[in-house]
Amino acid sequence: MIERSLWHPVALSHAVGSQPQGASLLGEDLVLWRDAAGAAHAWADQCPHRGARLSLGRVAGGQLECPYHGWRFEGSGQCTHIPALPDFTPGARHRARSFDAREAYGMLWVRLAPPPADAPPIHDFPLFAAESEPRLRKTTSGPYRVEASAPRIIENFLDMAHFGYVHEGWLGSRDRPEIPPYEVAPTPHGVLATGCLAWQPRSSIHAESGAQVEYTYEVTAPYMAVLTKKPEPGSTAIEGLWESIAMFVCPVTEESSVAWTRMAMNDFDSPDARLIDFQNTIFGQDQPVLESQRPKRLPLRPDAEVHSAADRMSAAYRRYLKESGIGFGVIA
Ligand code: FES
Ligand code: FE
Repeated sequence: MIERSLWHPVALSHAVGSQPQGASLLGEDLVLWRDAAGAAHAWADQCPHRGARLSLGRVAGGQLECPYHGWRFEGSGQCTHIPALPDFTPGARHRARSFDAREAYGMLWVRLAPPPADAPPIHDFPLFAAESEPRLRKTTSGPYRVEASAPRIIENFLDMAHFGYVHEGWLGSRDRPEIPPYEVAPTPHGVLATGCLAWQPRSSIHAESGAQVEYTYEVTAPYMAVLTKKPEPGSTAIEGLWESIAMFVCPVTEESSVAWTRMAMNDFDSPDARLIDFQNTIFGQDQPVLESQRPKRLPLRPDAEVHSAADRMSAAYRRYLKESGIGFGVIA
């Protein structure tokens, strides 16, 4: 399963603290925890001894202690101590099953399997890193727990024709629902749509009147997409610097997900809570529709659902998933 060798977001970095917590990715239960050096770890949430959930344990002395018989594991996964046999030195077989973990864009990312030898290098988004591009301010909203497949969530993020209905008065209006033609092209990592125009009554927390707003949408990985927004005339935007919002989705099961949005905004005045509130409102409008869609897994056969010309990006996204060999959260 190709999805297992890709990086997926599983938690906000600051939410992974000194005590273990559970998470799920691609149907696999994980325990997330941080050692004494501050390094984050993601392991199978199953003790190698008798299968108890390690996320019910605790971190003591920088090691993860199983809740059942108190076996202790260091960051590498190696068991260092078996309380019932204090003089025994655990061997190489006494280890927890660990996965690759890395932190980026304020989140912890996990890869369940090593990448194939011909895998492309990690596709990075410097724009969303806290330390990069000081003219943009980085904030994250979520987690949003959604009873919908990850591809349905990404496809909704790429969809402009719902603005006037689902986000009426915010991102769109029933009176101006038309979506003019836009360009779609493949990229080395996914698909890019440019020249996307939508009439928006209130496209951001600062918008005081409606405007025709121009976007680009890019699918950058099977469960990840980024939009950029052209500065509106008269806005306080920095010339040439487009604000971006990324949708990061963790495919939990085939039909349930956790999502976050990562914002890179030129708004340094509003408190984080206000930017997050806006995203919460928008996502809260999407959620009931997303959870209502049937089938829950995204059907990839071109004739499985009916398309219009406004759906060119979603059709390209489905083709990309199929060509990438994605099988989780879709009906191939
Ligand atoms: Fe974990 Fe026994 S099940 S120590
Ligand atoms: Fe929406």
